[in-house]
Amino acid sequence: MNRRIAVPERLAQRVTATFGDAGRRWVAEVPDVAAAVADRWALRLGDPFPEGTHALVLPAVRPDGARAVLKLPLRDGENDAEAFALRAYDGDGAVRLYGHDPATGAMLIEQAEPGDPLLTHPDMAAAFAIACGLVLRLRRPAPPGFAFPSMRSLLAGWVAQWTQLALELRVTGDPDRAAPLTAALRLARRQLRHYREAGVLINRDTHLRNIVAAGREPWLVIDPKPVVGPPAYEAGLPVLLMLGAEPTPDAADAVIEQVAAGLRHDPAEVRDWALLRAVENMTWNRGGSGSQTGFQAVSARQAAVLMRRYDADPWALPGPDTRRKTEMADVERRRSWPPPANSVTGSRHEVRR
Ligand SMILES: Nc1ncnc2c1ncn2[C@@H]1O[C@H](COP(=O)(O)OP(=O)(O)OP(=O)(O)O)[C@@H](O)[C@H]1O
Ligand SMILES: [Mg+2]
Repeated sequence: MNRRIAVPERLAQRVTATFGDAGRRWVAEVPDVAAAVADRWALRLGDPFPEGTHALVLPAVRPDGARAVLKLPLRDGENDAEAFALRAYDGDGAVRLYGHDPATGAMLIEQAEPGDPLLTHPDMAAAFAIACGLVLRLRRPAPPGFAFPSMRSLLAGWVAQWTQLALELRVTGDPDRAAPLTAALRLARRQLRHYREAGVLINRDTHLRNIVAAGREPWLVIDPKPVVGPPAYEAGLPVLLMLGAEPTPDAADAVIEQVAAGLRHDPAEVRDWALLRAVENMTWNRGGSGSQTGFQAVSARQAAVLMRRYDADPWALPGPDTRRKTEMADVERRRSWPPPANSVTGSRHEVRR
């Protein structure tokens, strides 16, 4: 019999800040889910790992004494695919999936031990090489039987959301935010126009906390967020992580070269996907609480640096079909140009909501 699990305070705060009422509900209910699943799989549970962002993750011991990890995610439409990706990897460069309960999203996973994140590696160049090796190794044909999220539908969603946002920014007259958004919108539309699905399973969340020290292999990937789409998309996240919170154009050029070499892509393509990812992050969870503004502000700075190599006209919306007549008439009626001075100054380093 396990004692009742307490959700770590920081996890509770993060989930509530991001998901509001749904987050509060999850924090209240997840200890019961943990107890029920542990009963069903006859697990002895340990104390939760402190690092979880949207999931309660606990060490667990199986009836045969084998050590495992129980992961109970706050289901957001994206993480349902995690179990199917782990199954597709089948232990090859990633932790193994032992069990999955589709009703709750609970996963029982091989425990990587000692489990230290690759982020703590003393040699960052070596860590980067290890991470690139794993990213390349995990790419494989998407297995049949599960509809993984597709890059095509992600792109279509971005085009719809960003077009709307670009139109709104015309109204408020905020060129600093509009310029990267417009550049990314143009890229997303081009990607969508030329899209050919190659059926490759890629991971949109390979960062150095999601690669941990293990026994049967030195390092294993945990926590995959799979997408079926173009492999170069995977290059966007490492560029942004290496660019950090105070990006500069020179640093961006250097990082893009490094990631392109490590993941064997064309640097121009890497820049495209890095800008798309930065704008995706910048516009993530727009309806959510203010706690995301730090992340969104950093993403906006990264987007502003990355877009310098693209057409910088913030108001040139791509494609005539984005300018639906009624919307544009409405926009033109309300638009003030030139924009008021206070909407230009001060907006470079913060995302206004
Ligand atoms: N299989 C595992 N072996 C060892 N440690 C693990 C394992 N799975 C998770 N952990 C530990 O728990 C932490 C949180 O797990 P994980 O990364 O899966 O959750 P998360 O980041 O909250 O997930 P998500 O991004 O889905 O919200 C990890 O950073 C790691 O320290
Ligand atoms: Mg993680």
